Amino acid sequence: MFSRIVRPTAGLARCLSTSSRDAAKVAVLGAAGGIGQPLSLLLKNSPLVSHLSLYDIAHTPGVAADLSHIETRAKVTGHLGPEQLAAALKGCDVVVIPAGVPRKPGMTRDDLFNTNATIVATLADGCARHCPGATICVIANPVNSTIPIAAEVMKKHGVYNPGKVFGVTTLDIVRANTFVAELKGLDPARVSVPVVGGHAGKTIVPLISQCAPKVAFPDDQLSALTGRIQEAGTEVVKAKAGAGSATLSMAYAGARFTFSVLDAMNGKEGVVECAFVRSEETGCKYFSTPLLLGRNGIEKNLGLGKLSAFEEKLVADAMDELNASIKKGEDFVASMK
Ligand code: NAD
Ligand code: LMR
Repeated sequence: MFSRIVRPTAGLARCLSTSSRDAAKVAVLGAAGGIGQPLSLLLKNSPLVSHLSLYDIAHTPGVAADLSHIETRAKVTGHLGPEQLAAALKGCDVVVIPAGVPRKPGMTRDDLFNTNATIVATLADGCARHCPGATICVIANPVNSTIPIAAEVMKKHGVYNPGKVFGVTTLDIVRANTFVAELKGLDPARVSVPVVGGHAGKTIVPLISQCAPKVAFPDDQLSALTGRIQEAGTEVVKAKAGAGSATLSMAYAGARFTFSVLDAMNGKEGVVECAFVRSEETGCKYFSTPLLLGRNGIEKNLGLGKLSAFEEKLVADAMDELNASIKKGEDFVASMK
């Protein structure tokens, strides 16, 4: 059996050291970017990956040649530009999508919609055509809209599987674990905080009351901690001062999520991750909650669990923005020719 909140990978070290398992072809779309390169490095280091397929509209031959010299099992192929997208995707088990522009200071994630909606729609179209059964993990922002976009594009092709299209929110969980551990003097690798809702500002809802191990904070500290988790992306955007948003911590989080998907695909039991998915758990069509992963994607949505009054209000406050972002993504695909 699994406990409700399992820390699935407890760091990446396990994946860097275990012996090889089942073969999996994993594609990274946007592989030459700030997230794409370190994410591809982490995936190349894992015995869970037998073929690492790197796609971008720039620089993939160089990134692929570089990574291909690493002495691990994964075969690396580089694919450049739309005419090579089919080859990148054919036979893929998992597709991870960090392709898209990042924020600059003063921008919201929604300000990225105009550029990234088209990129994600194009790449989801490629997945629908060339690897319709693959698990799709979207990192590109605004996640609250790019997941509905990916879903609607897959639906148009008649290949949408709600259990296999994920918005990657793992960085919110990684941050929550780190910040709680800092405040309580704990080992962050042993802290597990579920984060539900979406992936933008107040739609990010950390459930500190469900933290394992149990932790308690005075009200003012709980508010400040919650606010810091909700605005942690902006903290990095400001610190990078125009040079982009989180890349290294996102690569870590994206690798953690991908390894969990692959572990579950390989039959490991009790793998739980939070992710933004099609959901019946609240009044939002898409919502992030802890998910039990299995061989074919989501095995069971574990739902919100018991919330404190403070967390109930956070969830209620997230709904309007989430619903608007979801509708914006759906409307975008409906308006596509
Ligand atoms: P980046 O600009 O460094 O890299 C993006 C890459 O995408 C570039 O290499 C670019 O060539 C490529 N690209 C652009 N259009 C493409 C297309 N049509 N097909 C394939 N590749 C294409 O940006 P980054 O820092 O890596 O961030 C990427 C995205 O991830 C942003 O939208 C950012 O907001 C998002 N992000 C999400 C999270 C999260 O928690 N989900 C965290 C951090 C960043
Ligand atoms: C993050 O949370 O770091 C990402 O969504 C990038 C951003 O724009 O903040």
